[in-house]
Amino acid sequence: MRRFIVVGQKARASADFLLVDIPSTSGRLDVLLHALRAALLISHGVRNDTLVYLVLLGDPNRPRTLRIDGSAARYLRPDERSLATTLKKALVTQTTTAHEDAGFQPVRAGISVADGGIETALAELHGCVLYLLDQAGSDIRALERFEPDAAFVLGDHLGLSAGLRDELLSRGALPVSVGPTPLHTQDVIALVSNELDRRQPVG
Ligand SMILES: C[S@@+](CC[C@H](N)C(=O)[O-])C[C@H]1O[C@@H](n2cnc3c(N)ncnc32)[C@H](O)[C@@H]1O
Repeated sequence: MRRFIVVGQKARASADFLLVDIPSTSGRLDVLLHALRAALLISHGVRNDTLVYLVLLGDPNRPRTLRIDGSAARYLRPDERSLATTLKKALVTQTTTAHEDAGFQPVRAGISVADGGIETALAELHGCVLYLLDQAGSDIRALERFEPDAAFVLGDHLGLSAGLRDELLSRGALPVSVGPTPLHTQDVIALVSNELDRRQPVG
């Protein structure tokens, strides 16, 4: 199973954004939509061995996290507007704030929402080996193997906060690089997926 966690530092945790102007009305949810496409969609199909967590920190008082499961999600299309519409429908659903530790609640086929930030995802990923995608990390090609229960953490256009980086490192996350050039999040995911595909081709 592959898992990607993408942290949107400004991404709004509500459906209150315009489909006609996603970048400037959603806190750059477009960056996360492109990351989602790169992680889950292949030509004429969906990776059914992949989970994506989109951490929406735009409202620090009420962060939320979306989990999209490639094995169960339906009608995912590669264009930004279509993916935005799907997530907008999921975000309309109000999770029960009375149960903030309730974890992920299913809201649509293959899509769940949790109240909380990355800690909500990490709680589910207990036991997974964390890889922190970082230009200055160890070369991903030098890794002899990926742990089967791997979870890859990436920042958005703003990167990851220093606090979150420290937190991940203290949890044993391994910094890995896909190369010497600073890339967009979606491109890093495509390269990580390619490395995994080369070692374990999609069935
Ligand atoms: C657009 S970059 C973030 C840029 C931001 N200004 C910064 O300095 O962190 C988005 C994310 O992609 C990942 N990333 C970018 N280039 C990378 C590389 N060469 N190797 C590994 N991860 C990379 C990191 O996780 C980063 O947070």
